[in-house]
Amino acid sequence: MKGKLLIIFKSNHGYTRRYVEILGNALGCDAVPADKFRGDMLSGYDKILFIGSVRGSRINGFNKIADYLDIVYKKLIVCGVGMLPQNENRAAAVKDATVSVAYEKFIPVFYAQGGFDMAELSRAERISINMMVRQIKTASLISEDETFVLNAAVTPLDEVKQANIQPLIDYLDGKTVDEKLYSPPEITDEQEEKQFFEEMEQAAKAPENKKRALKKKLKK
Ligand SMILES: Cc1cc2nc3c(=O)[nH]c(=O)nc-3n(C[C@H](O)[C@H](O)[C@H](O)COP(=O)(O)O)c2cc1C
Repeated sequence: MKGKLLIIFKSNHGYTRRYVEILGNALGCDAVPADKFRGDMLSGYDKILFIGSVRGSRINGFNKIADYLDIVYKKLIVCGVGMLPQNENRAAAVKDATVSVAYEKFIPVFYAQGGFDMAELSRAERISINMMVRQIKTASLISEDETFVLNAAVTPLDEVKQANIQPLIDYLDGKTVDEKLYSPPEITDEQEEKQFFEEMEQAAKAPENKKRALKKKLKK
């Protein structure tokens, strides 16, 4: 690929880490676990990829980079790894839950299916999943995703494979990627960017009762 890439990753049970290895083999890059990441590591890279597992829709460990978004938002790419299979809305939902309003319009977000095995979980994680399972079972309507979670709690799955991360490899390699396969940035134009940040500033200064309406407008 053209330019230097740094991958910052958060992986609890190795699924995301295996994707980092696939990316490394395909693209050649440096990689650092989110827990060892420091802000001074960001300099000298043309692109930064944050990749981590999805926990309750949100990407685990993203807080490690959240303080640096004002510096890296133009070269940051994000990818969530979850148990659920990829679909057209997954990346956008992960973006919505993970990236703050101020930066979500600038950052491309990808999603790749990883794996899940109850037997690998820590006690706290198992409690959390068991609670989720109980809640799903008591609901009157169960969605397709929820059915998937119920099955995964009984039967382990491992879907880590290059095909699942190929759109991200292509994107990092400078190729055009079908917009159905990820959540692309909405603002790429400098004029639009300037206007967006001006409106953000206005929203921040607005009285409390107007703040919510302005933020809602910016999210659209
Ligand atoms: C407490 C908990 C919550 C999770 N929440 C989600 C979720 O909301 N969506 C999803 O697709 N996967 C969810 N998962 C599954 C993990 O994202 C999945 O197992 C992932 O492959 C783990 O990658 P890692 O080993 O790199 O951390 C959850 C797992 C745990 C333990």
